[in-house]
Amino acid sequence: MSVKIHKFEAIVVGGGGAGLYAALALSKEKVQTAVLSKLYPTRSHTGAAQGGIGASLGNREPDNPEWHMYDTVKGSDYLADQDAVEILCNEAVTTVYELEHLGLPFNRTPEGKIDQRRFGGHTRDHGKAPVQRACFSADRTGHMILQTLYQQCIKNNVTFFDEYHVMDLILENGVCKGVVAYQISNGEVHIFHAKSVLFATGGSGRMFKITSNAHALTGDGMAIALRRKIPLEDMEFFQIHPTGIYKMGILLSEACRGEGGILRNNKGERFMERYAPTIKDLAPRDIVSRCIYFEVRDGNGINGKDYVHLDLTHLGKEVIETKLPDIADFVRTYMGLEPSTDLIPIQPTAHYAMGGIPTNFNSEVQIDEKNNVVKGFYAAGECACVSVHGANRLGTNSLVDILVFGRRAGLSMAKYCRENDFSPLPADPEKEVLAQIEWLRNASGEEKVISVRQDLQSTMMDNCGVFRTSETLKKAQADIAKLKERYKKIKVSDKSQVFNTDLLEAMELCNLLDLAQVTVDAALARTESRGAHYREDFPKRNDEQWMKHSFATLTDNKTDLKYKPVVVTKFQPQERKY
Ligand code: FUM
Repeated sequence: MSVKIHKFEAIVVGGGGAGLYAALALSKEKVQTAVLSKLYPTRSHTGAAQGGIGASLGNREPDNPEWHMYDTVKGSDYLADQDAVEILCNEAVTTVYELEHLGLPFNRTPEGKIDQRRFGGHTRDHGKAPVQRACFSADRTGHMILQTLYQQCIKNNVTFFDEYHVMDLILENGVCKGVVAYQISNGEVHIFHAKSVLFATGGSGRMFKITSNAHALTGDGMAIALRRKIPLEDMEFFQIHPTGIYKMGILLSEACRGEGGILRNNKGERFMERYAPTIKDLAPRDIVSRCIYFEVRDGNGINGKDYVHLDLTHLGKEVIETKLPDIADFVRTYMGLEPSTDLIPIQPTAHYAMGGIPTNFNSEVQIDEKNNVVKGFYAAGECACVSVHGANRLGTNSLVDILVFGRRAGLSMAKYCRENDFSPLPADPEKEVLAQIEWLRNASGEEKVISVRQDLQSTMMDNCGVFRTSETLKKAQADIAKLKERYKKIKVSDKSQVFNTDLLEAMELCNLLDLAQVTVDAALARTESRGAHYREDFPKRNDEQWMKHSFATLTDNKTDLKYKPVVVTKFQPQERKY
């Protein structure tokens, strides 16, 4: 097979918010930049961050970055690094104004300022009451960010390679030199030689059965890093968002509750009042998701089943149509219900990986728990862990994270590109990718990719979801080991070169299996409950032993775990009451 070679100073892998903002920053610094994206960029998963981007503009009521920082640290169950959170909350404000100047159509207050609404875990004055901090564009905030940044990238001459699936990172002697990619439309392999590479490849929610994540969210960047001996940080923390459409997982934004929506059990009770008396339905996601299942376990699920209702009926048609138009559409299309009159069946849905490729504030990738970096390699967005979300991310903070650290990545890559020449490529950097493709093309065993994937998704949901115990995690470990054996016997039926999704899904499954393994192994090792990681056999948080981040590597298919202390600056860990 002939392999094409391209040369750019900076390669950005991923066309979501982090990748696009980095590419924009790079292009404005006059760095020759290409974006490689598995999807057409404006279809990236940033679009699923529907409800808003958090920034303490104080347009509706008093607010400031220090309160935002307090909420983020408390929301993280004190696992976030507070120096990184301080950067996040300070730069959130300038970032939102920059987006406004780039043309993002935010909703407006009557005076013409950027409008803001409530979101889970965001409070005024250190937890006293909910605050309006989420800046929004109806319930399409993520989509608007994608459109705005994509247009700006085009205007600034960023080159796009759409529907290119990156399969490997070219690394030699601790220096990153580019990537190897598979062109989905024709099956060709390409080498991208670069001075610097950014992974902004998004999350891995497709390892779970019920998920808000699109089909393409298979953790490719994280899995490539893992195979290249780069550790993954805090993989045991996976966010399950409380409000997915029942059985489908499609997200119904937290903005529904930000606008006043209420969760009700089968008795019609607003049950969150009992669990979080101060902020009720706007408690952080880990808490609300658990409470939904506490209700279900107590027999308060609707019709005795494993779901509850989201009630928007009291909001009125006008609020629903103007502030939540996409949500209204989803409810009508997928459920045949009318949100202004009907109660909506919801269930928690796997949404967001708090963990990922470890980075410092400049988005440089760390090769170990001692903060050493890989030269020329950067990561930002959901695939990265800086760490600003700790054990549980607050709603709206993903958009802040991708933009603040996406732009920081772009700026530090630009500096690196100015100060460094291209390093020569190693011999045959495409060799392993070609061998993998060859193996997949000839794979003619009896196992269907879809069956292995579905079994993985079921065991992850059942055994490594909202509730975990040593027993369930060991079951998941055993299941994943068997699934990895089954993977060796898969069959790829489609032998063609053109849009071979059969082959692509087999590649993606390999990534999900590795990521699921380190997720479960890290979860089993952490014998405490914190944020989204709730161990029923260790129900208390244990700060003495576990104020530390996990760093997982895979060697010979075995997970090795190391740890690094959490950075605490302003806020000492406290009991998390809402
Ligand atoms: O609920 C939502 O609108 C999702 C936002 C987020 O994940 O930040």
